[in-house]
Amino acid sequence: MKVGMLTGGGDCPGLNAVIRAIVRKGCFHYDDTFVGFLEGWRGLLEDKSMPLDLASVGGILPRGGTILRTSRTNPDKHADGLDRCIATLQKYDLDALIAIGGDDTLSIAQKLHERGTKVVGIPKTIDNDLGGTDYTFGFDTAVNVATSAIDRVHTTAEAHNRVMVVEVMGRDAGWIALYSGIAGGADVILIPETPFDIDKVAETIRLRHARGRYFSIVVVSEGAKFATTLDIEHGEPVVADLGKDEFGHVHLGGIGNLLAREIEKRTGFETRTVVLGHIQRGGTPSAFDRVLATRYGIGAIDMVHRGEFGCMAALRGNKIVSVPLVDAIAKNRTVDQEMIDVAYGILDKLTRDKETVMK
Ligand code: F6P
Repeated sequence: MKVGMLTGGGDCPGLNAVIRAIVRKGCFHYDDTFVGFLEGWRGLLEDKSMPLDLASVGGILPRGGTILRTSRTNPDKHADGLDRCIATLQKYDLDALIAIGGDDTLSIAQKLHERGTKVVGIPKTIDNDLGGTDYTFGFDTAVNVATSAIDRVHTTAEAHNRVMVVEVMGRDAGWIALYSGIAGGADVILIPETPFDIDKVAETIRLRHARGRYFSIVVVSEGAKFATTLDIEHGEPVVADLGKDEFGHVHLGGIGNLLAREIEKRTGFETRTVVLGHIQRGGTPSAFDRVLATRYGIGAIDMVHRGEFGCMAALRGNKIVSVPLVDAIAKNRTVDQEMIDVAYGILDKLTRDKETVMK
């Protein structure tokens, strides 16, 4: 078969591992040939491609980023965009397309599928917010990066008697904050799913210090929301003034600094902020993500050969399965109650009884 491939949306550790797995299984087991479209859906819109063969995927397994590059191009926002994508696919005489991306990329894959394109999806995002799958690849690496950053600021917090606020990514889902906060032993974890009361956050920190601890670690998700008032500074997620992408997402970021200021004002404790930003997305994938990405790649090329189009390779339990793309994109998958209970379970009784956070 002749198979096209693209990576769309934000880059993510493990993209190259997926590309490599698809090409290797396709070449070794099915005699497939591949075309890589460059820069996400822009590659199909503007007919930008590169040949993909065994040589081009040599040595890429541990590399971050994506050899196909990526973009947040939304063909549906361009004149005749979807038709132009289909025309490009026809020009290359492809039997199938594998789209590797998050909800935005896969929503376009679904639209093309509805127009007759034979497409298979693979769930990519550090945010872990796609439906239909237990985990997306890239998430584990981001959590590891955030956890090791929290470990590092811990020592500075201890040395200086400080409150350290660590802002992590994740958009509207608190997965990265929750996992890295638990793994890094954070004292307060603030996630988009539960708007927080700044006075209770300050009280939590005060109570902790009152029982003899002289530093605190706060992990806040970039999409977390103040619950107290509804003006722009306090009721909504804090957004940098950078506009929106083609899928309509605002650029989040900045809540860490605002939060630190409010904590310091209320507690009198010296407070500093670290914004991890794109460091969470860059660099080499964890071993877990390399394996998961490889499993997804193998799953997707097998799905192509079984004719399971309009579907996405997904992890359910410990099995790679095929789920409809519509299930994956139907709803942003936010953190589940079980993980919230875990975080709540390790909270200090004193602060927990005050119903501070994660309740
Ligand atoms: O979706 C992945 C993600 O890293 C989000 O966590 C974050 O809000 C967004 O992408 C940042 O996007 P960009 O790289 O376009 O600034």
